[in-house]
Amino acid sequence: MNHAALETSGPFAHEIATLFWIFAGVAAVVYAIVIAALAFSLWRRKRADVPPPDVVPRNALRAIGGSLALTGIILVGLALADFFGNRALTNVPPEALRIRVTAHQWWWEIEYLDAIAQDRITTANHLAIPVGRPVMLELRSGDVIHSFWVPSLNGKKDLLPGYTTQLALIAARAGAYRGECAEFCGYQHAHMSIDLTAEEPAQFDRWLAAQRASASEPTDDLQRRGRDVYRGSTCRACHTIQGTMTAARLGPDLTHLASRPRIAAGALPNDAASLAAWIADPQAIKPGTKMPATRMSADDLAALTAYLGSLR
Ligand code: CUA
Repeated sequence: MNHAALETSGPFAHEIATLFWIFAGVAAVVYAIVIAALAFSLWRRKRADVPPPDVVPRNALRAIGGSLALTGIILVGLALADFFGNRALTNVPPEALRIRVTAHQWWWEIEYLDAIAQDRITTANHLAIPVGRPVMLELRSGDVIHSFWVPSLNGKKDLLPGYTTQLALIAARAGAYRGECAEFCGYQHAHMSIDLTAEEPAQFDRWLAAQRASASEPTDDLQRRGRDVYRGSTCRACHTIQGTMTAARLGPDLTHLASRPRIAAGALPNDAASLAAWIADPQAIKPGTKMPATRMSADDLAALTAYLGSLR
């Protein structure tokens, strides 16, 4: 999984990495020159073994003036590089795919906006995007300030309560990318990962079509029992499974839970044992998380886990 700001996979991150190398290169050269000048003057002072003059000599004044002018030129140059770099980051074509990302303590709600209302889909903590196509994220927060950061694709952007910010992404290569919340947002800030997969356009379209469908029907008795457990449990107070007459949006939409790479915003792998452990006692895994423990018998828990695991 790619998770490095200097291993870029798209034009925006490349722009930032280029800027980083320009700044680092200029700073390294300036540092080398300053240290060399200091070493030279110390060496000359020691060799001549004379006290410093009362009046600054003319050639020293010239050297100081020249250094100041050079510093000014370098600063203006870096400011221009920064300005044009920033302009490139906001240069997004209007036909970009629009996705709304709402940050919560401590997970990401992701809505694929579509002009047709029933084609909108909602997922959580997993962001799939098509390779090569610009994506415009509308970033919002449901509670405190968070920050969206997928280092291989672009820089950080804050998500602010009551205010929408925007961030563009273009993935140049297919692959799995990892992102993190980059602004301290409470107790479980470190457990707020995002899994981003960049997929070839045809594969992305298949994914989108699958996500638009209602939840798959149970295929065996265990899964059917699991669905009954879900319907009779308190899970429904916060979670939605499309097609089961639930519509709560306090927690992640579970309609296609099994298609996601990880659960609990990256805290656990997406497998039966993790799912069961998470439902039984979320506070043991992410202390402070908004999800309460759900009491049920071991058989009910196994059935519920089987059902949730079938929601691809
Ligand atoms: Cu959300 Cu840190």
